[in-house]
Amino acid sequence: MTAHGPAEDEYQRITDMLDSPVYIVTTAAGTHRAGCVMTYAMPASIGPHRFLAAISRANHTFTVASQARYLAVHVLRDDQCELAELFGAHTGDVMDKFAQCRWRPGPGGVPILDDVAGWFCGAILERVPLGDHVGCLLQPIEAEVRHSGTLLGAAAISDLTPGHPA
Ligand SMILES: Cc1cc2nc3c(=O)[nH]c(=O)nc-3n(C[C@H](O)[C@H](O)[C@H](O)COP(=O)(O)O)c2cc1C
Repeated sequence: MTAHGPAEDEYQRITDMLDSPVYIVTTAAGTHRAGCVMTYAMPASIGPHRFLAAISRANHTFTVASQARYLAVHVLRDDQCELAELFGAHTGDVMDKFAQCRWRPGPGGVPILDDVAGWFCGAILERVPLGDHVGCLLQPIEAEVRHSGTLLGAAAISDLTPGHPA
């Protein structure tokens, strides 16, 4: 059953109160690279380790991820609003985000961003329809922590207008 009327409004208010971590999810297929800010994402299993990343069907990242074998999930330091703005307020439909930041190719060519608090690369095990988003179920295969301080949260970038409407 879907929330509707007042329930829908209250549901929206609750999700607006969540201060989720801000992730940048990148991917590659052939010569195409893509990446976007994501907050609809979470660890989803402990044994085995699994992570669920939900990508809007509207995003350029979705088009590339549909053909990809891997996603890289990055977490940011709390002073990295500018990097979040690059990946969350612009679309790869009209610009090359990877010309504006430092990165190196990881498994399957997936871009691994240099200047982040940490990242892991996940093999896409399943794609699950979730409505206007599609969930990618990931098996982590490589990971690195670079900084153990406070991470950037969604509240810090609440003024950003997404590069694509969802
Ligand atoms: C705070 C915030 C949270 C977002 N969360 C998601 C998300 O969970 N999943 C998603 O697909 N897009 C999310 N977006 C939207 C994309 O990051 C944004 O539309 C981006 O510009 C798409 O880039 P692309 O077209 O190059 O893929 C979010 C944007 C912002 C600003």
